[in-house]
Amino acid sequence: MQSSAYAHRLHSLLSPSPSRTQIRNPTRNPTRIRMSLRDDGPSVAIVGATGAVGQEFLSVLSDRDFPYRSIKLLASRRSAGKVQTFEDRSYKIEELTAESFDGVDIALFSAGGSISKEFGPIAVEKGSVVVDNSSAFRMDPGVPLVIPEVNPEAMGHIGLGKGKGALIANPNCSTIICLMAATPLHRYAKVLRMVVSTYQAASGAGAAAMEELELQTREVLDGKEPTCKIFKQQYAFNLFSHNAPVLSNGYNEEEMKLVKETQKIWNDKDVKVTATCIRVPVMRAHAESVNLQFEKPLDEDTARQILNGAAGVVVIDDRVSNSFPTPLQVSNKDDVAVGRIRQDLSQDGNYGLDIFVCGDQIRKGAALNAVQIAEKLL
Ligand SMILES: NC(=O)c1ccc[n+]([C@@H]2O[C@H](COP(=O)([O-])OP(=O)(O)OC[C@H]3O[C@@H](n4cnc5c(N)ncnc54)[C@H](OP(=O)(O)O)[C@@H]3O)[C@@H](O)[C@H]2O)c1
Repeated sequence: MQSSAYAHRLHSLLSPSPSRTQIRNPTRNPTRIRMSLRDDGPSVAIVGATGAVGQEFLSVLSDRDFPYRSIKLLASRRSAGKVQTFEDRSYKIEELTAESFDGVDIALFSAGGSISKEFGPIAVEKGSVVVDNSSAFRMDPGVPLVIPEVNPEAMGHIGLGKGKGALIANPNCSTIICLMAATPLHRYAKVLRMVVSTYQAASGAGAAAMEELELQTREVLDGKEPTCKIFKQQYAFNLFSHNAPVLSNGYNEEEMKLVKETQKIWNDKDVKVTATCIRVPVMRAHAESVNLQFEKPLDEDTARQILNGAAGVVVIDDRVSNSFPTPLQVSNKDDVAVGRIRQDLSQDGNYGLDIFVCGDQIRKGAALNAVQIAEKLL
């Protein structure tokens, strides 16, 4: 996809191992006539185009035939001048500056919170609609926090061609994956309390973390001391509490994102959420155990039916063959997979359920969700 050795390496890290499970694949048809580069499309900029999410943006835009008049690839000075091929054309990576957003209709940001805080408002000032992947604006009351399958109405007032820019925030990847499965059940029986335990992949920490996991795995197998640069402890053949800073209440920032973002997205200040976030040595795609307590009864068969009909969700729940979702099955896939759907024995009646969810957090947890938001602007 990209001409540099780095991009080739990143691409191979991001590519999934083969899987036998049939989960909806992104639209990939090399023989189709591309309709995406067209005069009536918006001009698009990707901020952080060389990163794990940035590269996935390109893949998702292409897979979904997202229409664009022009595309600008922005990154740090380190990457300026590198060449990236996108849809059979070569583009030079440009250094991100305040001038980058002149004439840009849609800016997809994935270069970290400080870059979003500095350049997001500049882009908005220049009339761009910014879809931001960082946590910089998620809890800003004036900024919609959107999962298109869950709360598209939150961004209903924003569109292109209205003569002014705007910010829309993409939720945290663990929140998106969790709520893709929990929301259809919430709509039916209203969730009162949710307990989430995550098993988060290296990809959630960016391209460098994926490289470190691979390097450490080789080093440990070779009997060498593992290189610890991104994480302060050994990652290969280990797991540890999420690397986000721990707050004074004992929760880390990743856990508090699940709490606060769920309340904002569901527009429900009273829903009780608690979370424990763990980094596991999986290359790509997060897994989450989710325990739900409902206001109204909901039995497991009805829950399975509801989830079977939910957009962007696939049920893998075969008790006989002990077949349930895995991170590998969902890697590079659009759908979030749900299984282990069962009544929670610790709750009386049909008021509690346990589910296990897996989702590709670079795709649905980041790039795909943001592109779906951008599609709603067209
Ligand atoms: N990975 C995920 O699953 C995920 C999910 C949801 C949200 N996010 C968020 O998305 C953002 C990026 O994550 P990532 O995983 O893609 O990280 P990454 O692989 O480390 O990529 C970071 C990107 O930001 C660019 N960048 C860094 N400093 C810059 C600067 N001063 N000016 C312009 N560009 C700069 C980098 O460009 P260079 O290559 O030139 O350094 C690179 O393109 C973060 O805010 C992250 O929290 C990530």
